[in-house]
Amino acid sequence: MQGLSGNEFIVILTGAGLSAESGLGTFRDKDGLWTRYDLEEVATPEGFARNPALVHEFYNARRANARAAQPNAGHQALARLQRDWPGDVLIVTQNVDGLHEAAGAQGLIHMHGILDGALCAACGHRWTAPAVMAPQDPCPACAAPATRPDIVWFGEMPYQMEEIWFALRQCDLFVAIGTSGTVYPAAAFAQDAGRAGAHCIEINAEPSAVTQDFDEVILGPASQTVPDWVASLLAQVTRKADR
Ligand code: OAD
Repeated sequence: MQGLSGNEFIVILTGAGLSAESGLGTFRDKDGLWTRYDLEEVATPEGFARNPALVHEFYNARRANARAAQPNAGHQALARLQRDWPGDVLIVTQNVDGLHEAAGAQGLIHMHGILDGALCAACGHRWTAPAVMAPQDPCPACAAPATRPDIVWFGEMPYQMEEIWFALRQCDLFVAIGTSGTVYPAAAFAQDAGRAGAHCIEINAEPSAVTQDFDEVILGPASQTVPDWVASLLAQVTRKADR
């Protein structure tokens, strides 16, 4: 994208493809999590009601993997963009790992929750999740044995949607990275931002299900494409400042 002043407001949406090269599996690739687990059993409120032990086991394993993982060059480049871009950069992630924060990103929106969070289904209290959670764990605030992972399941409303929709209406540039474009409302963000006048860029290993909603598509592994894209964006602003 040419002709940037540096003051543009950038909104970035990230998905599982960004963390794939940190060793965390995606959901829908050929060896993805949803090819090995039944989404209805481990990622819905109904599945949790039927078998909370199974659901905790699933998220305990994912928490252990996420805590052992390191951010890759893609996460680091986005943190650098936040630091060095003169305008605002908001990162909205569907990922439940903490790799953006580990790379130094700030002010993130975790629209699908976070593995490091525990939530009391009885009183709504939130606290830091221990490594292993179990159905009978009491809530530290109300003591109800109603502990669940602070993850948004299918059929539940993602977090901070009003804030996200507001940002999508205000932004100049919307960039979706490593997401298949199959889960709503995130899959509609390019349409929402584009309709409000933003330039939309998709960065992914392959064209997503909503690739037609983007003005530009950059294909390749995120650990290479994201640092290259960030460097080219920052170079435009630096060149301008040098003139
Ligand atoms: P998906 O697994 O649906 O899609 C991952 C996307 O990343 C695919 O389009 C891949 O082609 C791409 N990809 C894989 N490796 C990549 C790499 N190294 N570099 C760049 N792209 C790569 O994951 P999401 O779109 O994040 O929700 O899934 C959205 C939501 O569905 C998740 O947040 C989760 C899931 O069910 C809940 O659990 C509520």
